[in-house]
Amino acid sequence: MNIAVVGAGPAGVFTADIITKQFSQIEFPVRVDLFERLPAPFGLVRYGVAPDHPRIKAIIDSLHNVLDRGDIRLVAGVEVGTDISVENLQDVYDAVVLTTGANADAPLPIPGIELPGSVGASKFVSWYDAHPDAPQHWTLDAEQVAVIGAGNVALDITRMLAKHAEDLWATDIPNHVYGILRDSKIADVHVFARRGPAEAQFSPTELRELHEVRDVDIIVDPHDMVFDRSSEELMKSSKQRRLVAETLVEWSKRDPSTFTASRRIHLHFMQAPVRLEGTTRVDGKCQGG
Ligand SMILES: Cc1cc2nc3c(=O)[nH]c(=O)nc-3n(C[C@H](O)[C@H](O)[C@H](O)COP(=O)(O)OP(=O)(O)OC[C@H]3O[C@@H](n4cnc5c(N)ncnc54)[C@H](O)[C@@H]3O)c2cc1C
Ligand SMILES: NC(=O)c1ccc[n+]([C@@H]2O[C@H](COP(=O)([O-])OP(=O)(O)OC[C@H]3O[C@@H](n4cnc5c(N)ncnc54)[C@H](OP(=O)(O)O)[C@@H]3O)[C@@H](O)[C@H]2O)c1
Repeated sequence: MNIAVVGAGPAGVFTADIITKQFSQIEFPVRVDLFERLPAPFGLVRYGVAPDHPRIKAIIDSLHNVLDRGDIRLVAGVEVGTDISVENLQDVYDAVVLTTGANADAPLPIPGIELPGSVGASKFVSWYDAHPDAPQHWTLDAEQVAVIGAGNVALDITRMLAKHAEDLWATDIPNHVYGILRDSKIADVHVFARRGPAEAQFSPTELRELHEVRDVDIIVDPHDMVFDRSSEELMKSSKQRRLVAETLVEWSKRDPSTFTASRRIHLHFMQAPVRLEGTTRVDGKCQGG
């Protein structure tokens, strides 16, 4: 039995692993070829996870162990759909499994989104993780940055922007990224969630990690801490939502006169973006509603 798995991210590597092990248990000969469009495997674990999350990056060790066994053939640098079609693979293999991940941002169709100075998360993340398709240079000249969305990617980006570069030195941050972050003038990062604090998609641990960032104050407006009946239900049914909401409420109670850090992260709720303003680039006024 010959099987092609397309995409060598964690889903592809573990799919190839399971198939190989299952067939070897019943002593049925199987060959698994793992196709990957990039020169190196491991998908978003290599090119998405933030450099200051070494514990997650360590998943690469488990993925390495699977490929090091030698019973799965990695065919890197081949883009299925461009270099070879799925139909061609189907002619040659008994089964083709697609595990190509989600490599594009969800669209945010608001006026001004195409202005210079507005970028999708995948582009920014690809830059700081040195994805082969990403440019080496990045203009990071803003003092105020708005991050739209309240998920863990928003937290990664916020942390990477707000951290002082020297606190990233011990990570595997690429040199060119370190240099640009070191020269950054960023003072405030504003995160905008379109729903309430109970509906934020943050993981509790990742949210609390923000508080450990040196010389950065976290600012949460107590007026944003609104919980309607459905939020209450959500918090009852999900420990994760309850922990996130509790953390945010706790932060909202802090006395602003105790804020002394040189950089700030502002977490805003119930603010959906309506348009980005500017003529030649985003000019700093983000209209919400
Ligand atoms: C910015 C970001 C940060 C994240 N950080 C964390 C984190 O800290 N902790 C955590 O638990 N999860 C994190 N996640 C989630 C986690 O990375 C994903 O859930 C996981 O990587 C998905 O695995 P996957 O194999 O489905 O896809 P991917 O990891 O995206 O792998 C897909 C692979 O398929 C390849 N491919 C795509 N198209 C083709 C093609 N046509 N031909 C051949 N190959 C192709 C890609 O190059 C890639 O290598 C993060 C996600 C993002 C977006
Ligand atoms: N553990 C980690 O450290 C880590 C790090 C990064 C990523 N990840 C994982 O990777 C996956 C992807 O993360 P993600 O943050 O990209 O996705 P996500 O968890 O789905 O969060 C997306 C956020 O964007 C908001 N949003 C979507 N469309 C919007 C619009 N048109 N206007 C305003 N806001 C909008 C969503 O709001 P609504 O909820 O209202 O739709 C949500 O708050 C998740 O499973 C995440 O946990 C994990």
